[in-house]
Amino acid sequence: MTMQDDIAEILVSEEQIQAKVAELGRRISEDYAGEELLLIGLLRGAIVFLSDLMRNLDIPVRLDFIGISSYGAGTESGAVRLVMDLETDIAGRHVLVVEDIVDTGKTLSYLIETLKARQPASLRVCALLDKPERRQVPIVVDYVGFEIPDKFVVGYGLDFAEGYRNLPFVGVLKEHLYREVLIRSAILRHMNGYLERELSLQELVDWATTTLAENDVSAEDEAFLQDLLARAGEPGSADFGLTLEDCAELMGRLGQELRVRTRPLVRAEGAG
Ligand code: IMP
Repeated sequence: MTMQDDIAEILVSEEQIQAKVAELGRRISEDYAGEELLLIGLLRGAIVFLSDLMRNLDIPVRLDFIGISSYGAGTESGAVRLVMDLETDIAGRHVLVVEDIVDTGKTLSYLIETLKARQPASLRVCALLDKPERRQVPIVVDYVGFEIPDKFVVGYGLDFAEGYRNLPFVGVLKEHLYREVLIRSAILRHMNGYLERELSLQELVDWATTTLAENDVSAEDEAFLQDLLARAGEPGSADFGLTLEDCAELMGRLGQELRVRTRPLVRAEGAG
């Protein structure tokens, strides 16, 4: 079995990508002639595209990276947060954000708002792939490589569960390989997010309800999510909550041991 056996169809070939990257490089070099451009790569998916694109630019460039993570159900991206910030002060610089793919638009819209507040001289976005059918948040993508249909793709930097990034083309992953794994990993991420207090119980419950309603989940995952909702109780009611035992049991069912982290007590200012 090779990685290629997991691909149902090649959507954009290596040759098509290289021709497009050269064309984008020419357009961007013309648009920014006489200027220096700061390229901001979104970790991790954009690095392959970015490293090819920058070698097709004949203007001076600088490089920085930013990391954003989202809580997603299946292939949906949900709440977005910054996990690694830039090192560069972008004030007064011409900035081009380089992204692998624009899907719902949530990641880029969050990023654009965050970066705009830092007052760059200009801010534009370049994405190799765009799935316009999936857009939930309207955003302007200034340079687009290819518009693609609503299919889950991997390769040329794009991953599934961190795999397939090194394929030289963009391909559609065989569906049976990703559905269950995506939902299972989303369940784990949300449970951990709740336990780490990054998500409130209400957010966890809302996510579980939407996932049950919108995704074609396996019988096992359905039972898990229903149990989670039953244990949490009615939002707004006095007994709305999850006990430590509830969490330990639920996590145990996912094959995870519940580790309760104790944080050192922070002494009040001026105390002791
Ligand atoms: P958005 O916030 O929904 O626009 O999602 C953008 C992010 O979702 C991208 O940076 C990718 O990491 C991920 N993504 C969206 N669609 C795909 C796909 O088909 N394959 C792999 N990753 C994807």
